[in-house]
Amino acid sequence: MAINHPMINIAVKAARRAGRIINQAAGNLDVLTVRHKSLNDLVSEVDRASEVAIIDTIRTAYPEHAILAEESGAAGQSDSVWIIDPLDGTTNYLHGFPQYCVSIAMTHKGVLTHGVIFDPTRNDLYIASRGRGAFLNDRRLRVSRRDKLIDGLIGTGFPFRMFEHVDAYVGMMKDLMNKTAGIRRPGSAALDLAAVAAGHYDGFWEIGLSAWDMAAGCLMIQEAGGLVGDLQGNEGYLQSGNVVAGNPKIFAQLLQVIQPHLTAALRKGPGA
Ligand code: IPD
Ligand code: CA
Ligand code: CA
Repeated sequence: MAINHPMINIAVKAARRAGRIINQAAGNLDVLTVRHKSLNDLVSEVDRASEVAIIDTIRTAYPEHAILAEESGAAGQSDSVWIIDPLDGTTNYLHGFPQYCVSIAMTHKGVLTHGVIFDPTRNDLYIASRGRGAFLNDRRLRVSRRDKLIDGLIGTGFPFRMFEHVDAYVGMMKDLMNKTAGIRRPGSAALDLAAVAAGHYDGFWEIGLSAWDMAAGCLMIQEAGGLVGDLQGNEGYLQSGNVVAGNPKIFAQLLQVIQPHLTAALRKGPGA
């Protein structure tokens, strides 16, 4: 593997194990039990089985580490915390739309140190470690070099659970439709962020994500030479869930278009 680190090895083992569970069940979507956690927020037994497999793999190797996982929440107290999204893009998955992944990250004393994103539909493995770069299937990742927003392809996600931000979001999107080469909303934030790291997108923004959607992908972008910030370009995006990312030139231009649409609540973060 392009990064030789025991934590990456364990995260990859966990992600591939989860990927096998996800792929096996994908052939039989009709028989899955699906529950609404809240409006537009679905969970299936595949999300849970994937998470159990990931946590089991990590706990066996690192029993003393803490865990923050989407379906089972927080467990343990440690400077080292694994942040896990067992299936990012559940709605896509349940519809057979092949855009979903597993996302696993490690933070040490609050700093992102390792990230793994596994796309089981394409068998694509993204890995990153702080200071050691980001890779897709052993190929080094670099963000794009496009320097004009008007030429840029920009990814996004809709604020489909936080309706209070829809007007502000639509304002941003309307402006960006005019000022970019195109906007995409494939439905898996972790893969969207990985696409920025790979240079497929020139930038990305979304409101109201959770730490597990973002953690691995944000490190991936930074290690590929890109920038990540909140809607004002500052730190704290993992906590607020509001994120802007891109190659350094596009990041700055995206922020300029987004800023005029920020409400008081968005300046403070969702729920404020
Ligand atoms: C969702 C996806 C989606 C994003 C949502 C996330 P889930 O994750 O990443 O792209 O727009 O905000 O919640 O629920 O499928 O793990
Ligand atoms: Ca997610
Ligand atoms: Ca999920």
